Amino acid sequence: MTTAPLTVSAGQQADADWWRQAAVYQIYPRSFADSNGDGIGDLGGIISRVPYLQQLGLDAVWLSPFYPSALADGGYDVDDFRDVDPKIGTLAEFDEMVAALHGAGIKLIVDLVPNHSSDRHEWFREALASPKGSNARARYIFRDGMGENGELPPADWTSIFGGPAWTRVPDGQWYLHSFATEQPDFNWKHPEVHEDFKRTLRFWSDRGVDGFRIDVAHGLAKDLDEVLPSRAELKAMPKDGTHPLWDRDEVHEIYAEWRAVFNEYTPARTAVAEAWVETPERRAKYASPEGLGQAFNFDLMEADFDATHFRDIVTDNLAQSAVTGSSTTWVFSNHDGIRHATRYGLPPRNGQAVKHGAEWVLAGGPEDGIDKELGLRRARAATMFELALPGSAYLYQGEELGLHEVAEIPDAQRQDPAFWRTTAEDRGFDGLGRDGCRVPLPWTREGESFGFGTGGAHLPQPAWFADFSVEAEDGVAGSTLEMYREALRLRSQLQSEESLTWDEKLSTGDVLAFERPGGWLSVTNFGDAPVALPEGEVLLASTPLASDDGGAGGVSTGGQQLPGATTVWLRRMGA
Ligand code: NOJ
Repeated sequence: MTTAPLTVSAGQQADADWWRQAAVYQIYPRSFADSNGDGIGDLGGIISRVPYLQQLGLDAVWLSPFYPSALADGGYDVDDFRDVDPKIGTLAEFDEMVAALHGAGIKLIVDLVPNHSSDRHEWFREALASPKGSNARARYIFRDGMGENGELPPADWTSIFGGPAWTRVPDGQWYLHSFATEQPDFNWKHPEVHEDFKRTLRFWSDRGVDGFRIDVAHGLAKDLDEVLPSRAELKAMPKDGTHPLWDRDEVHEIYAEWRAVFNEYTPARTAVAEAWVETPERRAKYASPEGLGQAFNFDLMEADFDATHFRDIVTDNLAQSAVTGSSTTWVFSNHDGIRHATRYGLPPRNGQAVKHGAEWVLAGGPEDGIDKELGLRRARAATMFELALPGSAYLYQGEELGLHEVAEIPDAQRQDPAFWRTTAEDRGFDGLGRDGCRVPLPWTREGESFGFGTGGAHLPQPAWFADFSVEAEDGVAGSTLEMYREALRLRSQLQSEESLTWDEKLSTGDVLAFERPGGWLSVTNFGDAPVALPEGEVLLASTPLASDDGGAGGVSTGGQQLPGATTVWLRRMGA
């Protein structure tokens, strides 16, 4: 175990805040790069691409689960929290990867999955082999069934992925799984669960991990009476800290324990909560410095490309982070949602859940309601808007290439349990589950699996990937990849204090403009029609500006235009 030194140098202290305005890139390891040709991305693949990550200009990588797993839920079904899946590497390679990332100036955040293990975890196997009422069973949530012979589940609850949330084991008892059948929920009232996760936090922290992304952070604490409420009763209960399953107040006692562990290290290890809660105030609890320190806010991910929505979200979240002293987070895409290039090419949701038939997204093409070109153009503008904001920006692998969601995956090849546990009718917004954003990345225009590896790809890649490959975009002026590289480079130079001032004069109608200290002005035109380009030195634009003197690197003196669905960064004259 590492113990805290008595004195902390100025350099280390400065480093302790590295996460506050970091650009963090999410790697979904099995789909990033495959070094051994088995069709599954691996740690060797990540190590080989560290120069790419460095050139992108990132502060940190967030690595989705890489632990041993049968992949019932893309790795979020963990067999062993303190090991690497042999399909994707070894602990020695993990150490090598940490060294390579750190050598490139990139921090590492790993995904921690404390709500559940997989059904292959040694504790769950022990639970199945042990009798009812045993200590082994008490680490999970086992119950007797209802009905004359216990043949009915203890309650009629459904899992987040659809289908029943209780599964029966051979001796007749039932266990709770909030997600897939293969993901039994832990009982966080059991002290051994606490001790084991603290051991896991130290295990990875000792190996040099800089922070943790906490999966389902709002789900750990549960309070279940002998008589369980029905599904309808559960639904009607307020999520104000007293709900039996979600966002209970005492979950923060767990995170206070973890904070003590994080603070054993120098700099302190960081954490970011994935917490789906009802109000900004409840989210702030997860971001408290006595707890995890930061929490994801998915508001932009759920909003239409709309000036008013964006402004409200930014204002609310900055105010909220000011209360806790945390820094806010921004996300447009991740491994659970439709890529934003595709989302913004679909009809607006206006904050409401819109039902898309499965075929709608599947078919693509303007006649089916998707405009891929407009979607990408808006996505680029949204990303530049995001990268100019104070707070941490979480980017998802492939968005720097402008990748769209892959809709054309045959059902038989789909892997997402959420796809398989629901019907087309009750599937949510995307209609197709989450495989479309998890297709292995295209590195080259041609060749075996577009350069992902020499042994194919575990999800089928469409032909259009060629034009979105790293090879197709590398060094090409105006490509999405070059836009991300330049935006990240400028951001690291321009970013200073975590403050933002809306430019009220420019922010009218479809335009949203704000200034960061040092005269860094970000202006987004959310509409379709061009508007006047403000004066200033043009640093970067998300779509090429028409006039020569308004192009990147030029000076706008008035009279030029800012096209629709475009963000431009300017430096105010004289700043
Ligand atoms: C949230 C993760 O982001 C998602 O991918 C996973 O399926 C669930 N938690 C369950 O672990």
